[in-house]
Amino acid sequence: MTNPPPAPEPAAAAEVPTDSAEFASADSRLPGPRQPRPDRRVTLRSDLRASWPDGLVALLVTAAVFVLLYIRIRNKTSSTVSVMPFMADAGGFWMYFLSQAFGWSALLWAWGTVILGLLLSGPRPGRLPLSAPRLERLHRTTSLNTIALITAHALLFGAELVRHSTASWNSALTTAFIETFVPGGYDSGTGQIAIPVGQAALYLAIPLGLLFYVRHRIGPKTWRVLHRFVIVVYVLSVWHTLLYGTNVWYDGWFRTSVWLLQLPIAALLLLRLLRPARRSEKLPLSPGATASRTGWALRLGGRLAVVGVMVALVVVVVSGNDGGRTVPPDDTASTHNHD
Ligand code: HEM
Repeated sequence: MTNPPPAPEPAAAAEVPTDSAEFASADSRLPGPRQPRPDRRVTLRSDLRASWPDGLVALLVTAAVFVLLYIRIRNKTSSTVSVMPFMADAGGFWMYFLSQAFGWSALLWAWGTVILGLLLSGPRPGRLPLSAPRLERLHRTTSLNTIALITAHALLFGAELVRHSTASWNSALTTAFIETFVPGGYDSGTGQIAIPVGQAALYLAIPLGLLFYVRHRIGPKTWRVLHRFVIVVYVLSVWHTLLYGTNVWYDGWFRTSVWLLQLPIAALLLLRLLRPARRSEKLPLSPGATASRTGWALRLGGRLAVVGVMVALVVVVVSGNDGGRTVPPDDTASTHNHD
């Protein structure tokens, strides 16, 4: 008995890839016959509906990280307690640890969605377990979930501030809101820089991610140009983490691993720049009629900068010189101000 041919995936078949016409060259490189594309627009609502499976996985990951962080606090092996000894009371600060856990799942989802985005806009490997429309939908749903995870991370941090405030409910709520969500509102220690960096990531992620759903109004080209800057959101997220995360506060293998995880992103970004899916984005060997000399030089500079970043990442990982603080000799006393 022969197996019937695999049925087309219904959700994928009903979707229109983001830029059908422009991605035609990329799609035609995929094995198999080209599917007809019914003109049904992907909406925010349809993507939100499709977001629950990877959203659920994200929640499970968050729960697992939370348990791990909680156990480490209880066992006094967490560097969060070294940095802030008053946090040794695991039960008293559970919201803070949950906020940290959401921070990690947010970063992981941001990492994943950037990888997917670069696979879509750069040279796609010949064999991928998912079809192009499915890959694209996963990119969109993981992006939506990243925004939700960052929001949960920030909200829980704010909620912890409210819980530990001795002021009246109204004033505690107002102060927590300002400290969490208003740039410059948090005015002490490393947080003076790290919190606005995190806020910038969140506030940029929202328009750069969601403009996709109104691209027919702003024009696909405008959307594409704006969406490119989403890499800035990712860089800000990693910067915020390495600057402020107390679990990566000190140098060591975990902090170095966070650096290491940036290598695949940088490599895929370089590939995407060198071999973009859209032929029109390819950098000509010399400034020709299509590009101005300055524009060409800038684009070349961008590619060289990514090579520089890759070299820097390799140096950090190989040398272990990861910018972390040195663990204080007495592990229970903080020598640094986290605030
Ligand atoms: C409104 C924006 C944000 C606020 C108010 C905020 C707040 C904080 C705070 C207070 C910490 C320190 C927690 C600790 O003691 O370790 C932190 C760490 C962290 N944040 Fe954010 N953050 C924001 C945005 C982001 C974004 C955009 C990401 C990534 C996508 C992110 C991921 C992380 C991670 C991974 C940590 C490390 C947690 C740990 O060390 O366990 N945050 N954030």
